[in-house]
Amino acid sequence: TRTQVAIVGAGPAGLLLSHLLAARGIDSVVLETRSQEYVGARIRAGILEQSSVDLLTEVGLGERLAREGDQHRGIYLQFPHERHHIDFQSLIGRSVYVYGQTEVQKDLVEARTAAGQQWVYEISDVALHDLDTDRPSVTYVDADGAPQRLEADAIAGCDGSFGPSRAAIPGGTTWERTYPYSWFGILADVAPSTDELIYAWHPHGFALHSMRSETVSRLYLQVEPGTDPDSWSDDRIWDELATRLGHGQDGWELEPGPITDKSVLPMRSYVHAPMSHGRLFLAGDAAHIVPPTGAKGLNLAIADVALLAPALAELVGTGDARLADAYSDTALRRVWRCTHFSWWMTTMLHHSGDAFDEQLQLSQLRWVTSSEAGATGLAENYAGLPFEI
Ligand code: FAD
Ligand code: DHB
Repeated sequence: TRTQVAIVGAGPAGLLLSHLLAARGIDSVVLETRSQEYVGARIRAGILEQSSVDLLTEVGLGERLAREGDQHRGIYLQFPHERHHIDFQSLIGRSVYVYGQTEVQKDLVEARTAAGQQWVYEISDVALHDLDTDRPSVTYVDADGAPQRLEADAIAGCDGSFGPSRAAIPGGTTWERTYPYSWFGILADVAPSTDELIYAWHPHGFALHSMRSETVSRLYLQVEPGTDPDSWSDDRIWDELATRLGHGQDGWELEPGPITDKSVLPMRSYVHAPMSHGRLFLAGDAAHIVPPTGAKGLNLAIADVALLAPALAELVGTGDARLADAYSDTALRRVWRCTHFSWWMTTMLHHSGDAFDEQLQLSQLRWVTSSEAGATGLAENYAGLPFEI
């Protein structure tokens, strides 16, 4: 079979790209190793930047988001005995929205199903070919065990951090940092104990109170890498969250509830350049990973495809390669800004065990929460910079 753009990976980057290309009259086929149900059930990011919401709304994906998403003016930053609200709305006139990646994924699947998107799930042995020509292709084995070849004018590698696309780029440079801690994340059937997210520095380690809805809370604890989520009892999790988030401080209380999901995620930064080679273009986690502290992973995937869609539409639609040639450099400028911001939030808030680091962190937190210039810098980065910077 033949299509204009072969999209490898049906996560948010791949599905949004198929949607944006269709809006420009470009056909695509989405290839995915997992089942549609599996991809839709993965619990991941929860925060959308203003720029992500604006884009999703512009392309007809904003209806349920407007109804069910929760607009937040800012975040709370906390350190012992102090909790400060950073009000993005009054600092820079932009907000963030609580709307889970699972919901974004659901909306994309619904929209693409209605539009008759071609996709193939549960494939294996995916390989990319002839990237240096204008007839690249993807081979794979379908769910029935039959070998297949999809020919295209261009290939979009949206296959996450473990997919084959990145490795298909010869040469290139990677930058990587592994952090010496992990996040223990829980989902709980309990109303959030806060109106907006709380990012807390604590001598025991970082904690974050986030949420998914009026009845579902999402919370994270900094833990040792390799922690087995089943080795912590529910009581221990709630006790530690209460301590780190300041239960009892100024009358604030953390309300515990039934835990419905537990997972431990490693934290690393990773950037691969260039983000394209010949007729292959990477987007999202396939090209870069950020630690989750700045809530950037999903937003960065959305920002990449916002740039990639017009570039591919020009390339395969009219043969004009100017945007496609510029894609990697343009995308990487924003990728590095978000990589720095995510590293900065991460290193400001996590316990490293070093006494000097600790004093620097507290000094930085006092500055960010007391200086309008400091708070504005955080707000600009957190609520989302323009797609092209
Ligand atoms: P993905 O969502 O990873 O999608 C890639 C798709 O490609 C997957 O469906 C995968 O199955 C598929 N694929 C892989 N190999 C192949 C192949 N060979 N052929 C075809 N398809 C293939 N970000 C935040 O901002 N906040 C968070 O709290 C947060 N939590 C996270 C928790 C976890 C466990 C993970 C892994 C990520 C988390 N992220 C978080 C990051 C965020 O979810 C990602 O940045 C986002 O999913 C990126 O979207 P993507 O489409 O680029 O990649
Ligand atoms: C969530 C995850 C993050 O990494 C973050 O910075 C804020 C919120 C979440 O899953 O809700």
